[in-house]
Amino acid sequence: MGRPEGSVDKVRIGIIGCGRIADLNILGYLDHPRCEVHAVCDVNEDLVKMRLGQWKAKKAYTDYQKLLADPDIDAVEILAPHRLHHPMVKAAAQAGKHVSVQKPMCLSIPEAEEMIAATRAAGVKFKVFENFVFYPPYRKAKELLEQGAIGEPLSINIKLGTGVGGWWVPLKTWLWRVNWEECGGGPSIYDDGFHKMSIARWFLGEIESVKAWVDFMFGVIDEPALITWRYQESNRLGVWEANMSPGMLVHGAYYTPDERVEIAGTEGWIWVTRCTARLMRIPPLILYRGGEHQAFDDLRDDWGDSFHDCGWDFIDAILQDRAPFLTGEDGKALMQFWKAIYHSYSEGKEVRPRDMKD
Ligand SMILES: NC(=O)c1ccc[n+]([C@@H]2O[C@H](COP(=O)([O-])OP(=O)(O)OC[C@H]3O[C@@H](n4cnc5c(N)ncnc54)[C@H](O)[C@@H]3O)[C@@H](O)[C@H]2O)c1
Repeated sequence: MGRPEGSVDKVRIGIIGCGRIADLNILGYLDHPRCEVHAVCDVNEDLVKMRLGQWKAKKAYTDYQKLLADPDIDAVEILAPHRLHHPMVKAAAQAGKHVSVQKPMCLSIPEAEEMIAATRAAGVKFKVFENFVFYPPYRKAKELLEQGAIGEPLSINIKLGTGVGGWWVPLKTWLWRVNWEECGGGPSIYDDGFHKMSIARWFLGEIESVKAWVDFMFGVIDEPALITWRYQESNRLGVWEANMSPGMLVHGAYYTPDERVEIAGTEGWIWVTRCTARLMRIPPLILYRGGEHQAFDDLRDDWGDSFHDCGWDFIDAILQDRAPFLTGEDGKALMQFWKAIYHSYSEGKEVRPRDMKD
């Protein structure tokens, strides 16, 4: 068991899975003054040794059950292939550790419900680590929306353009992602798409119904895709268009999907761009209202900033005894959104997320 609430001055965290995204996922934990990266774990012994030195952790494990049995660990971050999220979160809860799991939450809605129930029964914090909602230009856009800067929101339009290039990704990191048994869906619309669904829901509310068309490039990449939805709030609509351009080189520090989000309101528009890649040389956030453009050039806009701030949210949620963002329930709602997209494109019909139970 971790230490009881109230006695924690520093959260000692264990990282389970030390692969590609750990480079960014660790940023907030290394930087938070009241967090200590106490232990690292990976089945790859060389990797775990490398991370031990790189992050100045105290302990290394190759068996996550042994890390969970360590009484010096208060919380864990799970950065493993998706099929392991469900058993790892349940085991972490049973060991009394606060738990954050990278998105997508798991493979099915019953799994999501079991993860929520296990963490609730154990009385531990449960965070679904979805960092795009912490990207500072999205944060600012949300603030503007809430201030009524564009009047009543009408629609959101998410445009995703993926190319080739970007940072180096080991082949093994790609291989499990294009295997539906390991990933739970396709690499674009489910894996990376979890972020787009999260943004869509966070900005404009709960989804009422979905109609989607998805094709598969080279048999494995779930693009091009056109996904449309209606919100429960009447008269609000959403659209997400995803395209893979295999001949388009993207110079970027990270993955190559570039996104542009447009939110239309009764009195103006908001554009947010960049996030992961950088196709357009424009400010990350532009507001149009009253016949004037306002560009927000001074926001932190590195993709890594979203990971940093998302990590701080987990540590602060533990220290302040509050819910993290996203919660398990948020994660389940996004699983239902995904299942509605999947059923819509595979069965050619309009589907309501709330009817999704599988
Ligand atoms: N938020 C984002 O933008 C973002 C981006 C990329 C990946 N991710 C998510 O991060 C997670 C990890 O992705 P990645 O790209 O780092 O993958 P990866 O394959 O590079 O890393 C996964 C690591 O887990 C380790 N592992 C596998 N089984 C294990 C076990 N039983 N015990 C301990 N370690 C084990 C592997 O050896 C590997 O090092 C996934 O959930 C993925 O969707 C999120």
